[in-house]
Amino acid sequence: MNPLDAFRLDGRVAFVSGGGGAIGSALAVALGSAGAKVVVSDISQASAEAAAERVKAAGAESLALAGDITVESEADRIVASIIERFGRLDILVNAVGGGAGKVLFDAQDYPRDAWDWIMEINLRSTLIASQATARAMVKAGQGGRVINISSVRAQLGINAGYSAYVAAKGAVSSLTRQWATEWAKHGITVNAIAPTFVDTPQVAMLLGDPAFKSSLISRVPLGRVGETRDLVGAVIFFASEASSFVTGQILTIDGGLTATQ
Ligand SMILES: NC(=O)c1ccc[n+]([C@@H]2O[C@H](COP(=O)([O-])OP(=O)(O)OC[C@H]3O[C@@H](n4cnc5c(N)ncnc54)[C@H](O)[C@@H]3O)[C@@H](O)[C@H]2O)c1
Repeated sequence: MNPLDAFRLDGRVAFVSGGGGAIGSALAVALGSAGAKVVVSDISQASAEAAAERVKAAGAESLALAGDITVESEADRIVASIIERFGRLDILVNAVGGGAGKVLFDAQDYPRDAWDWIMEINLRSTLIASQATARAMVKAGQGGRVINISSVRAQLGINAGYSAYVAAKGAVSSLTRQWATEWAKHGITVNAIAPTFVDTPQVAMLLGDPAFKSSLISRVPLGRVGETRDLVGAVIFFASEASSFVTGQILTIDGGLTATQ
């Protein structure tokens, strides 16, 4: 057998939550290119549809579903629609999140509304999508894959008003280990990627500041910021049979940044 066959996703159905976003849409296209049927879900219908078109252009079946994934009934509706359309659900990628750069406050003054918003989009989105998906996977009894997007900020502080984001991503990393432990008996693996800054609209303002960017790059041994394509290999690995004995892991994708700390 060709060892690369273990990375193929033919016949699998993937649900990319936040699939209309910069990272989610890149991962949706990659999952489709690896053989999966891909459901792109996003609060923005237009973004979901645009990403689904990109998946189709890559040669895979795709369906766009709009909804607010922080609302339990919406998540249940999305999961039910996936099963109705494709008959199964094998892979969840949790790619809703971000926002940190929009609400930078000193730790001692971090306001509750900003805190709640960051928790909502980074933590509750992951919680609700994963619960709805896991209920369906447990019921189907065919196992599955859950892939979270944490951040190096789960591990490293940053002197830039990021209190809520580091707390939310710390919780996403902890839940990755917790769910891996609880859902292993159902054949569901749970892993996460933890990128450093990825060149996307979310961080365009920070990366647009030449002083910030050069100080960031000077701390990254591989000497650049991340690109969405840097995340693809890890996600295909976690989504596929190739990682069948891997669960509860958080793979840092940071050009060596955390290795220096
Ligand atoms: N961009 C980076 O540098 C970077 C670095 C590390 C980790 N991350 C993480 O990667 C993930 C994706 O980030 P991104 O840069 O692609 O952000 P993005 O803003 O481009 O994508 C997020 C998507 O989620 C959607 N969304 C927001 N709230 C939603 C809701 N309630 N229900 C459904 N969809 C909703 C948005 O419409 C958007 O399409 C986030 O968890 C982010 O924290 C990003």
